[in-house]
Amino acid sequence: NRTQALPASLLEWYDRHARALPWRVPPEDSRAGARPDPYRVWLSEVMLQQTTVAAVKDYFHRFTTRWPGVADLAAAEDGDVMGEWAGLGYYARARNLLKCARTVVADHGGVFPDTREGLLTLPGIGPYTASAIAAIAFGRAETVVDGNVERVMARLHDIHTPLPAAKPELTAAAARSTPADRPGDYAQAVMDLGATICTPRNPACGICPWRAPCQARARGTATDLPRKTPK
Ligand code: ADE
Repeated sequence: NRTQALPASLLEWYDRHARALPWRVPPEDSRAGARPDPYRVWLSEVMLQQTTVAAVKDYFHRFTTRWPGVADLAAAEDGDVMGEWAGLGYYARARNLLKCARTVVADHGGVFPDTREGLLTLPGIGPYTASAIAAIAFGRAETVVDGNVERVMARLHDIHTPLPAAKPELTAAAARSTPADRPGDYAQAVMDLGATICTPRNPACGICPWRAPCQARARGTATDLPRKTPK
C-alpha cells in the first residue's frame, strides 16, 4: 500500500544517492544495522541548526579530531570550544553544547539517552534534535521535520495551508510515511531529497524518486509550495 511504498521508493533512492557526510554511516552498512555514534549525530545536528551542510563539514572535522568523544568535549576549556566554534554563529549553541556534554558525563555516565524523551531532558536539545538523534543514532521510529521536510511533504500531498499553520498537518504527513525499519535513513533521505531535488525554486521533478506519487507534480503546483502566511 501507499504508506509502505513511499518510504520504500525513497530508501531505494537514498541507497544510491545519499550524500556522503562525515557523521553518517554508508547506506550499505546502515541496511545491515550499523548506526552512527550518537555523539557525532548530536554534534552534527546542533551545528546544522541555522548552518548549511557545506559550512558545517570543516567545523565538524576539527571538533571531532580535537574532541573525539563526549567525555573529551565535556573536559574541554570553555574558551577552547568557543574558539573552535568561531564563525558558526549563534553562540548560545556552543554554550549549550558544552552544558549538554557535561550533563551527559555527569548525569548519564557519558552515554547519551536512547529515546526522544530522554534526549529532550538535555540542555540545548529541543524536539527537532531529540527526534533526529533518536531516529538516526538509535533507530527509533521518530519523525524528523525541518524546513526541507516541510517543503517535500507540502508538495507530495499538495498541502496548500500556509506555514506556520500547516506545521501539524505536515508533521502528520511525515509521520505517516516514517518506516519502523530504517527511520534514521528515511529522515535523512527526506532531508537530502529537499536539499538536492525538491529544492525551493527549480525542483528536479524528472529525477525525483517520488515523482509518481507527488500530488503537486500532478497538479503543477510544486513551486507554489509550501505557501507562507505573509509577515
Ligand atoms: N540537516 C540537518 N540534519 C541533517 C542530516 N542528518 N542530513 C542532511 N541534512 C541535514
